[in-house]
Amino acid sequence: MARSLRGLVTATAAVIISTVLFLHTAPATAAATTSPAVSYTNPLVPQRADPHVMKHTDGYYYFTATVPAYDKIILRRAQTIQGLSSAPETTIWTRKASGVGSGQVWAPELHRIDNKWYVYVALGVSGQWKIRPFVLEGTGDNPLTASWTEKGVIKTNWDTFSLDASTFVSADGTRYLIWAQQEPSRSDENSSIMIAPLANPWTIRGTAVAISRPELAWERIGYKVNEGPFVIQRSGKIFLTYSASATDYNYCMGMLAASASADLMKASSWSKSSVPIFASNSNTSQYGPGHNSFVPSEDGLSDVMVYHDRSYRDITGDPLNDPNRRTRVQKLYWKADGTPDFGIPVPEGKTPVRLRSAADSNPARYVRLRAASTSLAETQFRIVSPGLGGASGSVSLESTSSPGVYLRRAGTKVQFEAGSSASPASFKTEASFTQRAGLSDSQGISLEATGAAGQFLALDKDGNLVLSAAGDVAVQAQATFFLE
Ligand SMILES: *[C@@H]1O[C@H](CO)[C@@H](O)[C@H](O)[C@H]1NC(C)=O
Ligand SMILES: *[C@@H]1O[C@H](CO)[C@@H](O)[C@H](O)[C@H]1NC(C)=O
Repeated sequence: MARSLRGLVTATAAVIISTVLFLHTAPATAAATTSPAVSYTNPLVPQRADPHVMKHTDGYYYFTATVPAYDKIILRRAQTIQGLSSAPETTIWTRKASGVGSGQVWAPELHRIDNKWYVYVALGVSGQWKIRPFVLEGTGDNPLTASWTEKGVIKTNWDTFSLDASTFVSADGTRYLIWAQQEPSRSDENSSIMIAPLANPWTIRGTAVAISRPELAWERIGYKVNEGPFVIQRSGKIFLTYSASATDYNYCMGMLAASASADLMKASSWSKSSVPIFASNSNTSQYGPGHNSFVPSEDGLSDVMVYHDRSYRDITGDPLNDPNRRTRVQKLYWKADGTPDFGIPVPEGKTPVRLRSAADSNPARYVRLRAASTSLAETQFRIVSPGLGGASGSVSLESTSSPGVYLRRAGTKVQFEAGSSASPASFKTEASFTQRAGLSDSQGISLEATGAAGQFLALDKDGNLVLSAAGDVAVQAQATFFLE
C-alpha cells in the first residue's frame, strides 16, 4: 500500500515535471514565413530606364522600358522575372518622321484593360521641348504580336510638358490616370504629380488635380521634378511612389499615401513622406535610383520593386544623354504597421535575404549587422554560395549595407568583420557555415560553423547573435531562421 502510494506520488511528480519541462522546452515558435525570400540577379537589363514589369493572367511577365536612343517602344516577355533578362526584345512602335512622336519616346507602360492592351508613353516632337502622354491600343492575346492602333495624345487641363502616365483601379472600382505635368502657375518647376479618373483608357474625366509638387529641398536638385508615379495598394491604403530631382545621382524616390476610402481627387487626402524613401547609396555603388514599378513575385507571396539606377555617381554632360540607366529588381518589404519598407538599392549580383528567428514571432527578430540598428538594410545579407572557404554546401553571410563585411566565427563567438576572397584562409574558413535544414523547422535553415562542428548560429533570448550547441528544443528554434 505504502509502496504503491509512493509509486503514485512519483508518477504524479513525473507528470508535473514533464509538464513543466514541456512548457519550458517547447515555447510557441514562429510560423514559417508567409512571404519567403526572392532570388534575382542584378542588374536585370542593361541600358533600360523607367522600367515597367507587369504580370498577366497568361502566366507571363511583360517588360517595357525607355531605350537610350529614345526612339522606340520595346517589349519582352518571360515566365519569370529573371527570364526577362535574356528574353528577346520586340519593337512594337518606332519614332515617326514628323509631328507628335518624332522626338523623345519615354517611359512606356503596358496595361491590360477590358481585354485589350494599352501602352502609355510620353512622346516628343523633333526639335522641340514638347512632351505629351500618348496611348496605343493593342488587340490580341500576346502584346508582342498584337496589332496596335494610336489613340492619340491624352488631353489634360493644360497643353503643357507632361509625361509618365500610369493607371490603377481604386478599391471602389474607379480607374484613375496618374502622370507628371507642368502647372502653368508654377512655370519655374518641371512637373507636379496629377490625378484624374478615366472615362476610357485614353480620356480623362473632369478636371485633373495636383497631389504633389516639388516643394521639398530633395525634390529640387538640378531640376524641380516630381515624376514617374506608380501605385501599390495594401491593407486599405494606397501608396503612390514618384521620383524627384534631376536624373543624375540626386534622383530619388518619394511617396504619397492615402486611405483607400478617401476622396483621391482631394490633394488633402494624400500625405507625403518628408524624406526620400529610396536614394543613392555609396556603400552599394547604386546611384540615382527611381522611376519604379511594382510586380508580384512568381509565387505571388512577395512584392518586387522594379527601378533603374546607375552604377557610377558622376556623369559628364546632360544625364539624359548617358545611356547606362539599367533595370534592377529587389524585394519590397512591409513594416508591421502596414507601410512599405524600401531599404536601400542592394548591391550588384544575387539579391539579399533576411534571416528571421523561428523562436520569436511578436515582435519578429532578425539577424542584424548591429543589434541596436532598426534599418531594414542592416537585416539584409547576401547568402554567398559556396562560402568564402570554398567548400561545397557552405555559405557565407555578406552584409547588404556594408558589402565586404562578413559574419565570422571568432573562437566561441561570432562577429561581423571586413573580408574578401583574398583574406587569409583562416578568415575564409571562419566566415563559412554549412547550411542545414532548420533544426526546429525544416522550412527554415540552420547554419553550422565550419571548423566547430555542432556549433550553430543562434539569436539568443536577449537577441544576441551567438554560437550554440542547440541542445534543447528552445535553442534549436533560436538556431533556425526563415529566409524572407
Ligand atoms: C526640366 O526643365 C528644363 C527646362 O525646361 C529642361 O531642360 C529639363 O530637361 C527638365 N528636366 C526634366 C527632368 O524634365
Ligand atoms: C557603409 O559601410 C561602412 C563600412 O562598412 C559602415 O561603417 C557604414 O555604416 C555604412 N553606411 C551605411 C549608410 O550603411
